[in-house]
Amino acid sequence: MTHLLVVVLSYLIGSISFAVVVSAAMGLSDPRSYGSGNPGATNVLRSGNKQAAVLTLLGDAFKGWFAVWLVKVLASRYGLDATDVALAGFAVFVGHLWPVFFRFQGGKGVATAAGVLLAFAPWLGLATLATWLLVAFVFRYSSLAALAAAVCAPVFAVLLFGPERIALAVTGMSLLLIWRHKKNIGNLIAGRESRLGAKKTPTR
Ligand code: G3P
Repeated sequence: MTHLLVVVLSYLIGSISFAVVVSAAMGLSDPRSYGSGNPGATNVLRSGNKQAAVLTLLGDAFKGWFAVWLVKVLASRYGLDATDVALAGFAVFVGHLWPVFFRFQGGKGVATAAGVLLAFAPWLGLATLATWLLVAFVFRYSSLAALAAAVCAPVFAVLLFGPERIALAVTGMSLLLIWRHKKNIGNLIAGRESRLGAKKTPTR
């Protein structure tokens, strides 16, 4: 029963799409209507409003971090364990991808995954973020950086935790994240992917 409560609560937290909420609050177009159509920080950046993109990034990362942190804090009082921590991380991520509040049309999960990984273990989050930054700096593609980080994160998780529940959750998240980037992968291969900081284009 507690597992189910953890999953539902985390999923609901993940269902808050900061790209849509922040854009609406700042009077910007809905990010699902331009650029890649993805409700995420990279696409909000295409609106030209850096502040909105940063707020989206922080909000989406925070909800991932918060869901896992909450379960960790409640763990001793309510007898929650590593399974609940792993479930919270996975469920908040799934909430971001398929949010119940936004007709199940969510984002690709990069910022939320970063928050989850930082909450699982700071070194796991930092090593994965460093991978993202390195690839983004060299190639200037947000999607390529996310894909590289998604490939490396499960390896970092196994190195830190061994092949157990947290590593399993990270692997599941990575597989979903890669799958959500299938359009980006096609665009990268075709040389059509837009680089970080490029402005608004019609939805593709
Ligand atoms: O954070 C998502 C990023 O990896 C790709 O976003 O909008 O270029 O599809 P986008």
